[in-house]
Amino acid sequence: MHVSNHLLVDTLSGKPTNRTPVWLMRQAGRVLPEYRKVRETAGSFKTMVTRPELACEVTLQPVDILGVDAAIIFSDILVVPEAMGLRYEMEENKGPVFPHTVRSANDLAKLHVASADQLHYVMEAIRLARRELNGRVPLIGFAGAPWTIFAYMIEGTGSKTFSRARKMLYNEPHLAHQLLDMITQSTINYLNGQVAAGAEVIQLFDSWAGILGPDQYHAFSLPYIHKICREIAPVPTIVFAKGAFFARRELNNLPCDGIGLDWTMDSRESRRIIPDKVLQGNLDPCALYASAGDIRRETTRMLDAFGPERYIANLGHGLYPDTEVDSVKCFVDTVKSYREKVPRE
Ligand code: CP3
Repeated sequence: MHVSNHLLVDTLSGKPTNRTPVWLMRQAGRVLPEYRKVRETAGSFKTMVTRPELACEVTLQPVDILGVDAAIIFSDILVVPEAMGLRYEMEENKGPVFPHTVRSANDLAKLHVASADQLHYVMEAIRLARRELNGRVPLIGFAGAPWTIFAYMIEGTGSKTFSRARKMLYNEPHLAHQLLDMITQSTINYLNGQVAAGAEVIQLFDSWAGILGPDQYHAFSLPYIHKICREIAPVPTIVFAKGAFFARRELNNLPCDGIGLDWTMDSRESRRIIPDKVLQGNLDPCALYASAGDIRRETTRMLDAFGPERYIANLGHGLYPDTEVDSVKCFVDTVKSYREKVPRE
């Protein structure tokens, strides 16, 4: 019989728990040989994303293999621009590529606000995963934050600077806001669909937050994240804005429950600046390349610094694909056994 694990949802709801919950960004991925096997059989990343039984299978793998306290639905943030009319390809060793991009009002006119129905394969994967999980751990749904999605739609690929996307903010702010509005509405439809299908927690990824200055982040990212948090169905929500150390005060004021921190953000300082939220993070993914003893030491140091209350253990960004599975397990196990070393009421 499975014992239901409410650690993540309870923590996000402000309820006391008997230990810190732990999961990892990119826990469903190339780190696991079991994932690579499914990926090989499927033939492509997009086949895995669009076939609910495959997406469900790899969603469950980290729960069984790593013993994490939550599952995150296997998908990608780029399914939203695709549903809006901008198809992407996932190229081996290169990452996402959009054959067409948005550079003008004309390009924008070809796009539409996506409905949840268009992403029915994600909803089906969520329903399957909920059934298979059978209450063992909660299922996290997710989407990219509008600025991060915008950056890919303008640029067409990953980029060090995303200078084309940033250029549009200066030269065509009106067009930028129009596209950000469309992405925001599409994301609200999508996330409400995910919650209706069974997602129990939502995380928004603003992976490229850190390439904007504070004023531009304030103008072109935060209002849209705010709107999404306000308009999605009431499930606990986490916002991960990578690199947005300068916006922590504003992140504290978002209508969400948790804030994800990257590894450059000091835990105690972040607690002071973000007093009203549950904090999540933030071990440097590179710490998992260290020896088991060092991983235990670094993880324990992180747990000591955040303290037991209102905290979710995670990395400061997604797992790197060449991390050893045993090192990931060492991280997870260190969090799970920490309570025994430091008993709490
Ligand atoms: O976290 C999970 O385990 C759930 C699945 C998940 C994926 N992508 C699967 C994936 C999640 C939550 C994402 C989010 C995502 N996708 C983000 C935000 C998080 C972050 O890392 O900042 C971004 C920016 C993307 C876009 C994306 N998808 C890129 C840039 C790449 C290429 C880089 C890479 O890791 O290969 C992807 C591909 C991708 N998405 C993979 C996985 C497992 C690897 C593809 C493969 O199996 O070959």
